[in-house]
Amino acid sequence: MKKCRSFFGMLCAVCLCAALLTACGSKPGNRTREIRIGVTVYDEYDTFITELMEVFMADVAEANARDQETTVSVLTYNAAQSQITQNEQVEKLISKGCDLICVNLVDRTDPSMIIDMAREADIPVIFFNRELVEEDLFSWDKLYYIGADASESGKIEGRIAAAYLKENPGADRNGDGSIQYVVLEGEAGHQDAIVRSDTSVDALLEEGIKIEKLESSIANWNRGQAQNRMSQLIDRYGEEIELVLTNNDDMALGAVDEYDKRETAGDKRPAIIGIDGTKVGLEGVRNGKLIGTVYNDKEGQALAMLQLAQAVISGKDPDSLSFADGLSLTEGKYIRLPYSEITPENISQYDKGE
Ligand code: GAL
Repeated sequence: MKKCRSFFGMLCAVCLCAALLTACGSKPGNRTREIRIGVTVYDEYDTFITELMEVFMADVAEANARDQETTVSVLTYNAAQSQITQNEQVEKLISKGCDLICVNLVDRTDPSMIIDMAREADIPVIFFNRELVEEDLFSWDKLYYIGADASESGKIEGRIAAAYLKENPGADRNGDGSIQYVVLEGEAGHQDAIVRSDTSVDALLEEGIKIEKLESSIANWNRGQAQNRMSQLIDRYGEEIELVLTNNDDMALGAVDEYDKRETAGDKRPAIIGIDGTKVGLEGVRNGKLIGTVYNDKEGQALAMLQLAQAVISGKDPDSLSFADGLSLTEGKYIRLPYSEITPENISQYDKGE
């Protein structure tokens, strides 16, 4: 709750600042140039997106403190899970004079209105986190995508789980030589949902772990929904569940919440694993409720988004640039940040004073 409030507070501050700049047509201090970036997120209550935007805004503040000539102003909207609302927001961002728009699509299969409006106004668009299909991305040369490779996150998740299961043979509680598991999945149709589920299971098999799927259930990235689904799964399978694979930390923590609510003793709980490395996810690994998580590099994605936006707005050839972590644009379109493994053994590297 605290996080949502601070993100919302930050949005208001940013909107106000941008509105004042727009209203007065003035530039702060002696700065000679202002660039305006519009952002619309699919849902401001999504934990990972909230944290990514916090990092993005901190990067913008840092860029403004460093560069005495140019001011970056940002106007951010929450589409609240409606593609229609998001289309209207993009229209508004264009009419408010944004130089570039960053879009976290609500419906990744339906960017056509946004692309048409942007092309008409000649405003470049960086899509992020929710990947549009190639055909749409390649339909105009001023469209870009920043995200990560979903299959990599699933593979890493499966490998962390396999290593844990090898080190902890007692995790096979019924001793049948096979691990009974359930999966909590993100939104149906999201590139990070199906692919993560499939590749995590593939990785477990490649590591030689015998597994048996009990059931998978969709919980839309959401902690509350995941707790609810976990409750149903526990009612159905009870102590048979030995492993809970999830597509993100919030759903992994939703599963933990249900075991906490039932006051299930540690030795009767399954191994639970997430993806993202959000603040709460890291805390879950630190306190041993999660066996691990996979870092979805929000810092890298946010910085790449700002750097690409600045480059495109100032007319630099984005192909000639190197972005966060030494990455460059592939196919003139994509920046994908790598995922990495987080376990109790290496979590101190991710602490960052939290
Ligand atoms: C995924 C992330 C999820 C959720 C989703 C929203 O990359 O792992 O937690 O934020 O994006 O599109």
